[in-house]
Order: sequence, then structure tokens, then C-alpha cells
Amino acid sequence: MSEIILLNRNYIDDILYIQQVNFKDSEDYLISKEAFLEVIFKKQVYGYLSKEKKLLAFIFMKKYDEKLRIYQIATIKTNQGIGGELMKFIINFGINNRYKIIFLEVHTYNIRAINFYFNNGFKIIEYIKNYYKNGNSAYQMKLEINR
Ligand SMILES: CC(C)(COP(=O)(O)OP(=O)(O)OC[C@H]1O[C@@H](n2cnc3c(N)ncnc32)[C@H](O)[C@@H]1OP(=O)(O)O)[C@@H](O)C(=O)NCCC(=O)NCCS
Repeated sequence: MSEIILLNRNYIDDILYIQQVNFKDSEDYLISKEAFLEVIFKKQVYGYLSKEKKLLAFIFMKKYDEKLRIYQIATIKTNQGIGGELMKFIINFGINNRYKIIFLEVHTYNIRAINFYFNNGFKIIEYIKNYYKNGNSAYQMKLEINR
């Protein structure tokens, strides 16, 4: 059976591979190996494993007092419902742990991701000009849970 687990450092190469497949032309999103190892150590990266235990997707998020922030979510193959499963998992995690808001920033050109977030109940709350280092802009999106 497929499952969602907290990832350990054994998955670092798979994470970097999925990141590379998705963001090779978008340096805005790239996270270094060292940075990933650090956030894995802090227990901030969850992964979706196939029934053969292969990593198919991951989500990197940070926990604040009342908020969860999604930094990166990526799947090896899109449109198979895997991203949706991971998102459902994080939303339930947020609800069960009494977080109030899940938020994220997304590149304004990343229409697929923006639609994915819309479909999962997120709303755009702000346009942030020059958000990324190279001057690209972002939308901040949020989902209210536990009101
Ligand atoms: C954005 C991203 C994480 C979404 O994940 P995904 O696995 O493609 O998303 P899903 O498959 O769950 O949902 C997308 C659509 O696939 C279709 N879908 C869902 N389940 C499906 C299934 N079992 N079979 C076939 N299609 C399905 C639906 O049309 C769904 O749209 P809906 O929400 O209107 O139902 C993924 O596309 C991705 O990795 N993109 C590149 C990385 C990126 O840009 N990340 C965001 C910035 S950090």
C-alpha cells in the first residue's frame, strides 16, 4: 500500500531528483542538498511512497505558532492524484494539531500549481512583487483551517 511518511536522510537523492525534474528551469524554487538535509533533520519533509516504497512526491513545510507554511511540494508525475493526497495529509495534520492557517508563496507564472492550490481550497491573499531573488513575483495563498 502507498503511504505518507516523515522522510529521513536516506531519501535525499530521491528528493533532489524530484526537485530537479520539476524545477530545472526555475531557479526560484531550487533548494540545495545541504539546506534539504537540514530541514529533513528538523522533521519538516514528508513523502509519498508507492507500494514498492519508491518516493513519488514530497512536501517541505515549516511550523510556526499557529501557522503551517508550505515551501515546496513536488511530484514525480503530475495528475495522478498524488499531490492531492499529500495536500490532504498536510491539511489533516494542521487540523489535528490545532494550526489555524496554512500558507505559501507561489510563482505567478506557475498556473498548474496555483490551480492545484485553488482546488484544495486556498485563496490568493496578496501579490508580492519581486518576491524572488531574480525579481520574479509571487502570490501569497492561504487556507484557513480551525477557526
Ligand atoms: C503542483 C503539484 C504538486 C500538484 O500535484 P499533482 O499530483 O499533479 O496534483 P493532483 O493530481 O492531486 O491534482 C491535479 C489534477 O489531477 C487530476 N487528478 C486527481 N486525481 C487523479 C487521479 N487519481 N487520476 C487522474 N487524474 C487525477 C485532477 O484533474 C486534479 O485536479 P482537481 O483538483 O480539479 O481534481 C504537481 O503538479 C507538481 O509537482 N508540480 C511541479 C512542482 C510545483 O510547481 N510545485 C509547486 C511550487 S513549490
